[in-house]
Amino acid sequence: MATHKTDKADKQITVIVIGAGNRGTVYSNYAVDFPERLKVVGVADPRKFRRTLIQKNHNIPDDKVFEDWEDVVKQDKFADAVIIATPDRCHREPAIQCADKGYHILLEKPMDVTAAGCKAIVEAVKRNNVLLGVGHVLHYFPPAMTIKRLIDEGAIGEVINIQHLEPVGWGHFAHSFVRGNWHREDDSCFVLLAKCGHDIDLIHWWMGKHKCLKVSSFGSLAHFNKEHKPEGAASRCLDCSVESKCAYSAKQMYLDGPFGVRMGNEGWPVTAVVDNPNVETVTEALRTGPYGKCVYDTDNDVCDNQVVNFSFSEGRTATLSMVAFTEKLCTRSVKVFGTKGEIQCLNFNEVTLFDFVTRKTSKYPFISGAHGTRMTGHGGADFYIMDAFVKAVARNDPSFLCTAANTLESHLLTFAAEKSRLEGKIISMETDTL
Ligand SMILES: NC(=O)c1ccc[n+]([C@@H]2O[C@H](COP(=O)([O-])OP(=O)(O)OC[C@H]3O[C@@H](n4cnc5c(N)ncnc54)[C@H](O)[C@@H]3O)[C@@H](O)[C@H]2O)c1
Repeated sequence: MATHKTDKADKQITVIVIGAGNRGTVYSNYAVDFPERLKVVGVADPRKFRRTLIQKNHNIPDDKVFEDWEDVVKQDKFADAVIIATPDRCHREPAIQCADKGYHILLEKPMDVTAAGCKAIVEAVKRNNVLLGVGHVLHYFPPAMTIKRLIDEGAIGEVINIQHLEPVGWGHFAHSFVRGNWHREDDSCFVLLAKCGHDIDLIHWWMGKHKCLKVSSFGSLAHFNKEHKPEGAASRCLDCSVESKCAYSAKQMYLDGPFGVRMGNEGWPVTAVVDNPNVETVTEALRTGPYGKCVYDTDNDVCDNQVVNFSFSEGRTATLSMVAFTEKLCTRSVKVFGTKGEIQCLNFNEVTLFDFVTRKTSKYPFISGAHGTRMTGHGGADFYIMDAFVKAVARNDPSFLCTAANTLESHLLTFAAEKSRLEGKIISMETDTL
């Protein structure tokens, strides 16, 4: 299936999957497409169904299948690297202890839900001289890399301002941030960290040598609350008399609509609803579980819209908008304004460059996809991050990865933005404590 050419010089590396849910499974698929480059030799997950799927797909012996990440670090080191794809609040300890065991690490984002945790992970990585890749998949995505290359080549002169939009998608937001795993900050983390870590990483990366000095942010949970519950609506969509007129109907999302099981979908988002999706299991889950609840009648508390302003050195600025209510699903749009030209990339596809001197537009097309692999998530970015990580480990070459220091810096900007929103003040990156 895979058509991406392999580099014969690279040795096969081995990896243990810690957290065999959605993301752990996606990343481990690289080994199915490129068995000569990656072998999955262990798995840990408390959910039997999920760990057994990975075990079967990768032919893992029983003695390397575990119920908890702690069981992995109790063993002598038995792989080159670990993929840590556990829930947000379970990243810090596995990352530190795996680094202390000498494993290279691909850690899902966010690194941790606190600034102190992120710093502790980076210290552990440095202390043990292991490689760290963090799941900011867009950093490795060709359109984002093209923008970075054009900026670094001086194609638009000096970057003065960046405008960035993260359109989360109305259905996606309801699924993940109203009903799903990221609907409460105390269960996972605030939405900017959960959803816009990618975007703040990109803004920080594209700004290059310019240091972010100040951050301010506003945002709220404007719509998905009891105040907006339609008259006559029930607390579950399957019992609701006005469900057919509701944009967020769970019946439409998981049973009858384009991504529903009745339409033959057995993948995301129904795999998040139940382990083994079919009409009966999904219907039962909608009757009893969180994914069947009215979006206006649950216990969600994360913002559905948020804006962030960044002030960089030498008077440069950037803005980020995160909005739930969009047709597009996470296909970011960005404009980078420079002294000699402007870069645009709409829906994270083709990059265009308008040159103020020649008054000509150049196009840098991107054929979305993932080199024919099955790792098509995030427009193919899932493939590119995994490819970079595997190469970094095989060649022991950190230059394939965003540096731990840069990743930490962008996490700190995210914490600063949320602090600004909560405290209603501008945060100084130099004097405020995060
Ligand atoms: N890079 C991205 O764009 C992106 C996208 C979605 C999610 N994520 C992040 O990836 C992580 C995983 O998300 P997901 O969607 O795969 O969630 P998921 O719930 O599908 O998977 C998490 C898995 O971790 C397992 N787990 C829980 N405790 C464990 C433990 N002690 N030891 C081992 N495994 C344990 C769970 O049983 C579950 O199977 C989260 O941090 C999430 O924020 C990143």
